[in-house]
Parts: sequence; structure tokens; C-alpha cells
Amino acid sequence: MEYALERFTAQVKAVIAATGRVAPALIETATPKSTIPADVAFPAFRAAKELRVPPAQLAAELAVAITIPDGSLIGKVEAVGPFLNFSMHPQRLATAVLAEIATRGDGYGRQPDGVGKTVVVDYSAPNIAKRMHVGHIRSTIIGQSLVNIFRALGYTVVGDNHLGDWGKQFGVVLASIALYGTPDAEGETALEELEAQYSRYAAAAKEQPELDEEARIWSLRLEQGDPHARALWQWCVDLTMHAAQRNYDRLGVHIDHAYGESFYEDMLPGVISAALEKGVAFREDGGAVVIENLDNLSTFLLQRSDGGTLYMTRDVATVLFRLTEFHPSRLIYVVGEPQALHLRQLFALTRAMGNAQGVDLTHVAFGTVFDASGQPLSTRRGNMVYLESLLDEAVARARAVVEKKSPDLPEDEKAAVAEAVGVGAVVYNDLYQDTKRNITLDWERMLATDGNSATYLQYSHARCRSILRRAEADGSAPSDASLLTHPAETSLIKHLARLPEALREAGTRYAPFVIADWCYTTAREFGVFFEQCQVLKAESSELRAARLSLVAATAHALKVGLGLLGIRAPERM
Ligand code: ARG
Repeated sequence: MEYALERFTAQVKAVIAATGRVAPALIETATPKSTIPADVAFPAFRAAKELRVPPAQLAAELAVAITIPDGSLIGKVEAVGPFLNFSMHPQRLATAVLAEIATRGDGYGRQPDGVGKTVVVDYSAPNIAKRMHVGHIRSTIIGQSLVNIFRALGYTVVGDNHLGDWGKQFGVVLASIALYGTPDAEGETALEELEAQYSRYAAAAKEQPELDEEARIWSLRLEQGDPHARALWQWCVDLTMHAAQRNYDRLGVHIDHAYGESFYEDMLPGVISAALEKGVAFREDGGAVVIENLDNLSTFLLQRSDGGTLYMTRDVATVLFRLTEFHPSRLIYVVGEPQALHLRQLFALTRAMGNAQGVDLTHVAFGTVFDASGQPLSTRRGNMVYLESLLDEAVARARAVVEKKSPDLPEDEKAAVAEAVGVGAVVYNDLYQDTKRNITLDWERMLATDGNSATYLQYSHARCRSILRRAEADGSAPSDASLLTHPAETSLIKHLARLPEALREAGTRYAPFVIADWCYTTAREFGVFFEQCQVLKAESSELRAARLSLVAATAHALKVGLGLLGIRAPERM
């Protein structure tokens, strides 16, 4: 069954068609400007031209000719100049929307658009023996939200964590461990030490060329399957993934696969020969395999002159594997803007080799992260932020907010709320605006209890739940939603009805911020409603019950919206 807003639009088209004046193909509706007190408009221009009458005349004629059937979601139709404006019937809308939120439950907003289709989302993708820096954090958070959004759109979604666990630099990792030993620490601290060892080794190799040779031998051993090299590699993978998993759990991130770059090793010769056979790549005299003049992109390599393969080679193999393994209709790469050229080359090469025809290849790029003083975070600057410490700091700061706002909560609940609020602040900061934009780590704004922050949204949800607790109602008791006719109520209800279309738009535009905007407007609309309408002290018990059911619907829809972003909604705050 379609959602109320979809039914409303369909009904508008049907009543226009029923007049027999306008051919169905010419019946297209539009959203009126926000200053116009109507919900859907029919601009009469095209139809009028066809009929050779002035648009305003046609609109006026149609307004008279239209009959609104009993029980329709259309409340009113009115001609204004060349437009035919339709408004919803507030009582019927309220009844329909509250009923659909209640019956669909956690599935509210879901759409069937993607049923039978698969999308693969490439996200997170940390590098082994390194900590997850802000780039990986953004990829993880944006990627998981897109996974949630596409699942809610009915797609079969396959998440794949394309770990950086291979390549030349891995020889350095292994050689440095062989030289300096394994760090005596755990989690991110151990990874930090490995990174330090790596830098120490790389610096030393500048003076001592034999260290370079040693690293090269280690990477060769690894590629040839030497058991010692393999065991050391596995130890690094386990250490990194164990640390990552703790963070993923806190973020509510679940990635279906982690094949990683190493998985594709055996497929690389096939990739290189296929590119040569198709004539897309050629082998230079020195032995390197080169791709030139492809779609005006700069020249790039598929194989080095020493026979070594590259990040690109493994990425091509990855595309081919994903196509045969999952038969996706889309492949989505959630990777930072600096890799835009790499991905353009990858997509162009894959297609030039005759693959991925009819498959949508998309790079969801994201911007840089700046600190509160406006400096981009970078390892070289020394202001880089890593995932675990970022989450810990967020939770510590959230804890202070909770202590201030809800001093009476029991200790364990305070801890749980601080975790949800702190992690939510970090997640929302990545999602509340277009992913391409840069973001700032500004704790004041991120944890503001009013304004566009997760904290404000979580508070709004908790406020709804607290009203329901005080009324000892969950909003599911029979109530007559048609009593909800106050403009603030109607406005809130119309907005709640928009979650399904917001979800669809978020998927089409790869834009979690559309959901974030929807959540923020919901919270604001709720604020207006709560200020203008008495809930617990409503004029009558019937109205009280109806308003409580609106509060319950708001809480529920907001929780669903936050869930799409990967943000938890505590019951109390
Ligand atoms: N591991 C890479 C990095 O840290 C990101 C991988 C992105 N995914 C891909 N298929 N290339 O930069």
C-alpha cells in the first residue's frame, strides 16, 4: 500500500483526469512555493496550450468541474491564476498518517524501489597496521548510513570493507616488526606503535639502503606465501581488525565482508592480460603496463616495470569480482575526494575493458575534516584525530552534558546515554550536510542541545518519550486522530508523512543529509506543536489522547530517521 502523500498525489491526478478535460499524459503536478497555502499544484500551462485556451481559464474551469470523492485525502481545490491548487484534508490526513506510522512500525518510511536489485557499498577500508584516521571515519559513517538507506529502499545491500592489507608498503611493515619486535600494547595504542616503527624504519632506510632491500624481500616473501611472513601479516590483520571492531560496535557499523586487497592477488595476472588483450593497455619497453589517453584522464599504470602490481590493479580485480559474485546494479565507493581521479580511472578502465555495462559506478566523495581552529587535520601537522580517541573524547564531553541536564538518572543509564550522545554527535557531524563539504570538529556545536545537532534530535525524541511516560501511554490506545486540526498539528503531521519521500531522495542523491534535514525539521515542528498545543492538559480527554498519539508517532518516526543515520535514540535523557 502506498503512503498517504503518494495516495494524495494520485488522487489529485485522478480527479483532474475524471473531468475529461485534460489528457492524462498532460497531468503533471508540482510542489507550490512555501508561501502558497496549498500542498500540490497543477500548473495548467501545457494542457491549456494543447486546448488553445488561456491557462487561467482552464484552471478556473477545472476548479468548477472537479468533484472530490468521499473519503478523499483532498480537502480543497482552488484556482489561483494559471494554477490549480490542492490542499489536503487535515482530519483525514492525520488519521491516515498516524495509522500508517503505527502499523508499519520500524518499517515506516521503507520503499519497495530496490526490490530484486543489489548494490555493493565499498566503505570504511582502513589500512592494516594503521589507526583509522578521520578519512576512514567519514567513510565508515557515511557508508553505513548509505547501507541503511538502500536497505530501507528495498535493495539487497552488500557492504565490503576494502582493507588496505597488501602492496609494497606492507613489506616495510613486516620488516619493521622483524627488526623492532611486536609492540607490547593493545588496540589503537599497539597500532600507534606500529606506525611509529614504520616511520622509524622508513627514516633509517634513507641512510641504510639494505633496509629497503630487506623490506622488498619481506613483501616478496608475503606474495610467495612464505609461512612466517604470512603469520606476521595475519597477526597485523587481526590486531587492526580487533581494534576496528570495537569502534564499529560503538558506531553500530556492520560490514558484511572484508575481502581486502590481498584477496585479489591471484586474479591480478588475469586483469593485466585482459587489459592488454582488449587493447586498452600496452606494455612499454621497460615492461610496465600503461593506460594512456583513456577518456582524457592522465596516464596510469596497471603493472610496474619490476613486475609489481598496484592499488589500481587490485581495484580492477575487485570490480570484476563484485560483478560476478553479487550481480549488482550499482557499485558505490565511499572514498575521500583526493581519490577522485583514481576512481575515475578505475571506472573508465573497467568500462573500456567491456565490463560493468548497465551497472552504475558511483564515487560518493567526501570533504576534509578541520579542527576547531580551522586547520585541516593531518598526520604531518600532528593534529590528526583517530577513531577510538575521537569517540572517547566525544563520550567524555557528552557525559558532562548528561550530568548537567539529567543529574538524576541512575549511574549506568548516564553512561549509556553519554555513549549514545557522544557517538551520535560524531556521526551526525559527518552526515548533517552534503558529504562533499568539509566538516569541522567543533564540540560546542556538535553537542548543542538546541540547533542542528544529534544531541538536539535525541533530546526531542527523549522529550516525547517522557511525555508519554508521564501520561502512562504509548500512544497506541485508541484515539481519534481527526481531532488534530490545529495548524501546528497539521504541519507536524504533514512533515511526518514526508519521511518516505525523503528516504527516496536520499537514495537517489546518495545524500544522508536529506534524512538529517528531515529529522531536524521534525524536531523543530515538534517544538512548535508542543509550545502551541497543550498535551497532558488538553481541553478534553479525547484531544489529550489524540495528541498523545501524535507525540508517540513523532517519537517513533524520529527514531526511525535517526536509525537510518546510525544514531541511537535513548528513552530518557
Ligand atoms: N584503503 C584505502 C585508503 O585508506 C581506501 C580504499 C577505498 N576503496 C577502494 N576500493 N579503493 O586510502
